[in-house]
Amino acid sequence: MLVTLKVNGKSYALQLDTRVTLLDALRDHLGLTGTKKGCDQGACGACTVHVDKKRVLACLSLAAQADSLDITTIEGVHGSDGQLHPLQVAFMENDGFQCGFCTPGQIMSAIALIDEGRATSEDEIREFMSGNLCRCGAYPNMIAAIRQAAQTVHSDAKV
Ligand code: FES
Ligand code: FES
Repeated sequence: MLVTLKVNGKSYALQLDTRVTLLDALRDHLGLTGTKKGCDQGACGACTVHVDKKRVLACLSLAAQADSLDITTIEGVHGSDGQLHPLQVAFMENDGFQCGFCTPGQIMSAIALIDEGRATSEDEIREFMSGNLCRCGAYPNMIAAIRQAAQTVHSDAKV
């Protein structure tokens, strides 16, 4: 079927088998390999993207379900001036990763978490980030990064 994927502000018309997942469409058909395939069965969070500003596991979504909706991937979170998102900066400043494989999914989840106002305490962050696994165990530094970015984003919003 013909599917229109609107990714990071650009529209792509793709002829896809109806069984193609959003993850495979992004990675294999559009070459957007920032979104990672970890478990491919909804257990690790590595494939997290935003669809209409909500967190979605791209490995459990069909591309056809996202037809004409606004999709954001890790390649699209930077500012219009090319500056990194405050959360990307905070991950670097706090060493919020080791191998980096889980990082795009962690960042996509955490951006949504901050936007939803659910990053107000360490416990809350742990709870709402619990669907994103990290085999390297970089959790303490990620939490520090998310707390730092939440303060930056919310203080910028008040300006
Ligand atoms: Fe989608 Fe693991 S690759 S949840
Ligand atoms: Fe290696 Fe998370 S940084 S899996």
